[in-house]
Amino acid sequence: MNQPTASQALDNPVTRDAMASFSKATDPRLAEVMGLLVKHLHAFVDESKLSKAEWLKGLEILTAAAQITDHERNEFSLFSDIMGISSMVDVVSQPPGGTPSSVLGPFHNHDSLIKPNGSDLTDGQPGERVWLHGRVLDVHHNPIPHAQIDFWQNADNGLYPAQDSAQDPQNLRCKIQCDAQGGFELLTIRPHPYTVPTDGPVGALLAASNRNIWRPAHFHIIVSAPGYVGLVTELFPSGSAYIDNDTVFGVRPGLIVDVKDCHNEDVAKQFGLTLPFKEVAFDFSLVQQSSTT
Ligand SMILES: [Fe+2]
Repeated sequence: MNQPTASQALDNPVTRDAMASFSKATDPRLAEVMGLLVKHLHAFVDESKLSKAEWLKGLEILTAAAQITDHERNEFSLFSDIMGISSMVDVVSQPPGGTPSSVLGPFHNHDSLIKPNGSDLTDGQPGERVWLHGRVLDVHHNPIPHAQIDFWQNADNGLYPAQDSAQDPQNLRCKIQCDAQGGFELLTIRPHPYTVPTDGPVGALLAASNRNIWRPAHFHIIVSAPGYVGLVTELFPSGSAYIDNDTVFGVRPGLIVDVKDCHNEDVAKQFGLTLPFKEVAFDFSLVQQSSTT
């Protein structure tokens, strides 16, 4: 006897009624999203032949996620990240033509100070100095004047300020306004790989799955300009450990950057560096808002 197909399995009163129960939502998008969510979750239950014990285990994991979640730590967001859902949302919401987006991550802070373009963020701390510079352009390679860069990264010990009380809360992060030609530059340090939090149910799942818990080194950057689709992304220095095995699936080929030796004497003098020093050059490309609607 042939097994029923997925569509036949979903053609049952429970699935039909559960999907239809959301159809009268005032917000039509809510009706659409919840109907599809029910449809695909029912298909998952059917295809996996989920047992009651497994369903109860799932509820226990979600309860544990809720219990460890607070205003500084969101285990549900981490679940989304390590299952690739956050990155999949990036992929499907990406307007064509611009720089690829990547995950926001848990350490963005809206309160970064606005600093002058060309700022030195290193402030005497350990770490290999990196001159990070480039331009913000439209998809036709025209400069976007005065775009804003929101930048953050981890310190030489692999920790963000939120994880390390020894760091100034504003360490290695800033907002800067690009110049009239879309140019930006700052002096920072080479970022380092780090692990996602492993002391909650996500950590237990990663361990049970024999999965990597590390992210490759990266700079976080949000680029915004009036009239353009905002870009949340990351730059990954080539050769970083875990660049081929990011536990949150954030690496895109177009976001891998070379950290090169630089012999620019003017920049060395500007930042008090010894030749050669390291540089990362990257031009961001933003998509016009009107071209996506
Ligand atoms: Fe990060």
